[in-house]
Amino acid sequence: MKILVTGGLGFIGSHTVVELQHEGFEVVIIDDCSNADVKVLEGIKAITGKQPVFEKIDLRNKPMVEAFFVRHQDIEGVIHFAASKAVGESVEKPLLYYENNLGTLVYILQELSKKERASFIFSSSCTVYGQADEMPITEDAPVKAAESPYGNTKQMGEEIIADTCKVTQGLNAIALRYFNPMGAHPSVEIGELPIGVPQNLVPFITQTGMGIREQLSVFGDDYPTADGTCIRDYIHVVDLAKAHVVALQRLLNAKNEENYEVFNVGTGKGSSVLEVIQSFERVSGEKLNYKIVDRRAGDIVSAYANTKKANEVLGWTAKSTLDEAMKSAWDWEKKVRKS
Ligand code: UD1
Repeated sequence: MKILVTGGLGFIGSHTVVELQHEGFEVVIIDDCSNADVKVLEGIKAITGKQPVFEKIDLRNKPMVEAFFVRHQDIEGVIHFAASKAVGESVEKPLLYYENNLGTLVYILQELSKKERASFIFSSSCTVYGQADEMPITEDAPVKAAESPYGNTKQMGEEIIADTCKVTQGLNAIALRYFNPMGAHPSVEIGELPIGVPQNLVPFITQTGMGIREQLSVFGDDYPTADGTCIRDYIHVVDLAKAHVVALQRLLNAKNEENYEVFNVGTGKGSSVLEVIQSFERVSGEKLNYKIVDRRAGDIVSAYANTKKANEVLGWTAKSTLDEAMKSAWDWEKKVRKS
C-alpha cells in the first residue's frame, strides 16, 4: 500500500518513514529540502534496507502537486509533515507561514477529495492548548488563542481538516497533537539536524555538551513549579513515529466512527528544564555548562499530556524514558560531529 509522506526527510518525518517501511508500507517522500538533506534517504535505507521513492517538490506549486497525484494515483494515505516550524520566524514572516503551512494543506486536501477513499494524518501540536487550565491536558481542553502565526497555522489547519471531512465522505483524517519530540533512531542513522542555532531545548543541550555552543541559557527559574523551571512532556521521536503508523492503520481499517479525530501524543510525564539537564548529565557523564537567565517571551509554565485517548483508542503508548531518549540524542550528536 502506497503512502505519501510530505516532509519525509525531516526529523519526525524520516523516523516515521522508517516505521512505515518496517510495517511493509510503500513510501513516497515529497520534500523541498529547505530544512533537510537528501542524505537522510541513505540513513533510512541503512535502517530498513529500502530506499523510499523521493520527489523534490515545493508543495506551494499547485500544478506540481496536481501532477504528482496524477503520477501516483495509487496513493491511499498521506502523512503531512511538510511545514515551517520556527515560532519566532513566524512572527516576522506570517504570510510565509500561512502559505507554507496552510496553502499546501489545502492543495493536498483538494487532491485527496478527488479520491473515493483517502486517509490523512496531520502534524498538529500541543501549542493549540496554550497554557491549559488543567494538567495533564486532555483532548477536550479548550483551544486557546494562538501566541504566534505558527501556532495559528496548527489551529487553523485542524479546522480546515475538520470542515473538509464534514463534507467529504471518503476522507478520513487524524490530527496528532505532538508534545515535545526529542532523540534519534537508536541506530543513529537518522536524527535531528537543526540548521543554525537550535531553538529547542534538547539539541541546544547536546550541542553545548559537544562544545559547539558555549552555554545553555535556562529561560527562567521563577515559575510556579517544584524547581522553578518550565515543565514539558518530552517524547522519544521513535515513539512519536510509531503513533503515526497506528493512527494510519486505524484510518485504513476504517475503525473510526467519526471521520476526523484528534489525539495527544506525549508520554504523560512532565519534566522540568533542570530535570532534562540532569538526564543529559546522567547519560553523557558530562557536566553541562548552563546559566539561569530571564524568562523567554511566550513560554508557558507547564504542558504534559493525558494520553488515555491514544492509549485506549489507538492502542499506543510511549515506551521510552527520558534517559533513553536523551541517550539517543547524545549518541546522534556525537556521531554527527565526528563525521
Ligand atoms: C516550542 C514552541 C512550540 C513548538 C515546539 C516544537 C515556543 C514558545 N514554542 O515549544 O510552539 O510546537 O517548540 O518542538 O517556541 N528552554 C531553555 N533554553 C533553551 C531552549 C529552551 O530553557 O535554550 C526551555 C524553554 O523555556 C521551555 C523548554 O526548554 O521551557 C522547552 O523549550 P522548546 O524546546 O523550545 O519547546 P517549547 O517551548 O515547549
